[in-house]
Parts: sequence; structure tokens; C-alpha cells
Amino acid sequence: MSHNHNHPGFVVWMTGLSGAGKTTIALILEKELRQRNVKIERLDGDVVRQSLTRDLGFSKEDRDKNIERVAFVAKLLSRNGVGCICSFISPYQAVRDQVRAETTNFLEVFIDAPLEVVIDRDVKGMYKKAIAGEIPNFTGISDPFEAPSRPDIHIRTDLHTPDACAQQILAHLEQIGYIPAR
Ligand code: ADX
Repeated sequence: MSHNHNHPGFVVWMTGLSGAGKTTIALILEKELRQRNVKIERLDGDVVRQSLTRDLGFSKEDRDKNIERVAFVAKLLSRNGVGCICSFISPYQAVRDQVRAETTNFLEVFIDAPLEVVIDRDVKGMYKKAIAGEIPNFTGISDPFEAPSRPDIHIRTDLHTPDACAQQILAHLEQIGYIPAR
């Protein structure tokens, strides 16, 4: 049976600095997985923070609440056969570990680019403001980022194109049987 879509739910949890490439890679993954008829939902920090968590800011307490609510959604989806592509800075290891414990087939994916590189890219112009002291508690500048010490997948976006990065994640998902091979 080459077209049996009986595949499990999963959570691709992308963690990394702002501007590291999480959303870009998530969008490519979403498109690729839809082409393969994998049931997926994409949850993204910038989007979720305009709806489900619009009441929250960037204190540690609020970041934890942000991820806690998203984890609840990812739990419901992943246990019902949906693949969740989640892109959140999610700077705290303990909170990422909680998401792993709560969800089905969780993969911690470190979307990694050196701080100098994301400052240089400054996609949204936020690093310039953060360095000038205009945005308090900015991750990597004036707020912590706990890099995963043993991520399931480690992606260096300063060394590979977004497409190649997405392919690395797809290959891993295929290899562990979460999605059908092409
Ligand atoms: S998280 O820390 O709670 O996981 P999340 O991924 O949802 O963060 O949101 C990060 C986005 O919020 C960034 O891409 C950026 O556009 C915006 N942002 C605004 N203020 C901050 C801040 N102080 N630190 C980091 N990101 C911020």
C-alpha cells in the first residue's frame, strides 16, 4: 500500500532567536506536507500573539503562558493525527520539555543562526531598537535564550538555504515514519 495515509500526529517544535528563520522554514514545510496530503496545522508566535495570546507580553511569566496555551492546542491536535508545525522563540528549556511531555511525537528542532547573523539580518528592524534600549527584554539582547543542548534536529540557517533546511526536517520526519516517503 503505497498510498496509505495512516500516519501519526506529531509536533515539529521550532525554537530559536527572532530572525533565525523559523517562520520561513515553517511555511516551506507546510506547503511540502500539504502536497503530500499530510494533515497539518501551523502555529506561529507572531500569529498566535494576535489572537489566542494577545493579552501577553514578553516577561518570563508571559512567555511561559504563551507556550503553555500553544502546547494545549498542539496536544489536542497531535493526539488526533494532525502534524503541528510550531514556530516560537520558546527560550526556556524547561518549558520546551513540558511541551514534549504533554504532546504526541514531539521533535525539538533548533533553528540556529549565530546572534551576529540575526542582528545583521535584522528582518524586522527589532534588533536595532533592542540594542538601542527601545525594546526591553528582547531575546538575545536583554533577555535569555537557552539553546537546546540536545535537540532532535539541529538546523544551521546561516549555512543552508531555507529550502535545504526544510528538506532536512522532512527527511527526518520520513526516516522516523511520521510522514509517508515521497
Ligand atoms: S516566545 O518567547 O513567547 O516564544 P514568540 O515566538 O511567541 O516568543 O514571539 C516572538 C516574536 O515577538 C518575535 O518574532 C518578535 O517579532 C516579537 N517580539 C516583540 N517583543 C519581543 C521581545 N521582547 N523579545 C522577543 N521577541 C519579541
